[in-house]
Amino acid sequence: MQIYLDTANLAEIREAASWGILSGVTTNPTLIAREGGVDFKTIITEIAELVDGPISAETISLDAEGMVREGLEYAAWHPNVIIKVPSTTEGLRAVSQLAKHGIRCNVTLCFNAVQALLAARAGAFIISPFVGRVDDTGVDGMALIREIAGIYRQDSEIKTKILAASIRHPRHIVEAALAGADIATCPFKVLQQAMRHPLTDRGIEQFLADWQSRMRS
Ligand code: E4P
Repeated sequence: MQIYLDTANLAEIREAASWGILSGVTTNPTLIAREGGVDFKTIITEIAELVDGPISAETISLDAEGMVREGLEYAAWHPNVIIKVPSTTEGLRAVSQLAKHGIRCNVTLCFNAVQALLAARAGAFIISPFVGRVDDTGVDGMALIREIAGIYRQDSEIKTKILAASIRHPRHIVEAALAGADIATCPFKVLQQAMRHPLTDRGIEQFLADWQSRMRS
């Protein structure tokens, strides 16, 4: 399973990229707004220069025509840019039109397996089920990943990748991989949490102390 970073923060992207683990980045209008009044094109192209993998730029139009117009514009900014459209009928229409131009789409805000099936049939490059937000409703978000993986597995024509989105904690990453996700997009904080373990810290301290005592003896 590949790891994407779910952020528009360049410092976070630079840091995670330096760990050698990043295969892509997802942004959304909320994450872009969090970076202040920065120009959308500037931030997306800067991210695309930092990470050699798909960088999701989200459309804000509600109709297919607008999504396609935005998608054509954003995709021209950098070859790594892929276009995020919502799981709506207008989104499907936009995906199939953008696919004809050779433009890859990430169908976002997916909350049921039928949305995922139809997105795949429309030619989506990525489907993004939001596991954390499903969990918030009292339903098992990972069950959605398992259902989609089962459906996609049965149909050899489907090449759409399953991206586990709305990841809230390190355990979500493990469960997404086991459930059949191709990608998990993670907030930077979750990746930091994932690499922290008190036994790792204690082990390092012990090894250092033993090494130093050996030098003294
Ligand atoms: C995915 O592409 C979205 O940007 C993201 O995972 C949304 O997560 P949230 O529920 O934490 O906002």
